[in-house]
Amino acid sequence: MKNITTERLTLRAWQETDVDFVYDLYSRWVVQRFIGSDPAVMVSRAEAEERVARFQSIDHPVHGIWAVARSSDGLVVGTLLLKPIPASGEEPLEPSDDVEIGWHFHPDHWGNGYAGEAAAAVLEHAFSSGLSQVVAVTNPANEASQTVCRRLGMAHQGPTDSYYNATCELFTIASPGSSN
Ligand SMILES: CC(C)(COP(=O)(O)OP(=O)(O)OC[C@H]1O[C@@H](n2cnc3c(N)ncnc32)[C@H](O)[C@@H]1OP(=O)(O)O)[C@@H](O)C(=O)NCCC(=O)NCCS
Repeated sequence: MKNITTERLTLRAWQETDVDFVYDLYSRWVVQRFIGSDPAVMVSRAEAEERVARFQSIDHPVHGIWAVARSSDGLVVGTLLLKPIPASGEEPLEPSDDVEIGWHFHPDHWGNGYAGEAAAAVLEHAFSSGLSQVVAVTNPANEASQTVCRRLGMAHQGPTDSYYNATCELFTIASPGSSN
């Protein structure tokens, strides 16, 4: 997974020293409430350790789950992901052929445009690496995330049940180089 830098941010691999941040982030209901079909907050540091290990286990030239750090002081502010999106079906869900982009930021850092800035750089990475399309799904009530999608130039395709065994709003964006 390659590091990606933007004007204010560095997207890098997760480290063991990020466990406390991951626990703080995912133990908050305001962060978890719109994630997955059955949202639940993290309740132990052990879960955060497992999550960091899972984030680190993605070894792929294009896909990744990055820690987003502020370049000025290294403070971690969120998570940015680019990976095959799970198709609806029997649990455990299998990845579909579509690649999703997603973002989870710490509420202390909302409202700074960090999610949009980090995601724009990841889309650029995705398309320069040859992906023809990237999708995003949001809970229908997640207006902040839908705003991020629109700001990125993603097209709202309406509701879908195709992923995560949930009804989500689907957004898509095609590579500028593709004929789609
Ligand atoms: C979604 C999330 C990353 C947005 O974070 P953010 O810091 O507000 O993002 P940005 O500052 O980059 O941009 C958000 C945009 O949404 C707007 N916005 C923020 N909260 C909003 C709300 N409740 N309703 C409508 N728009 C909202 C902002 O004004 C901004 O728009 P602008 O660029 O026109 O000013 C953040 O809310 C989050 O991490 N939520 C918890 C995890 C989550 O739900 N992830 C998405 C799963 S699909």
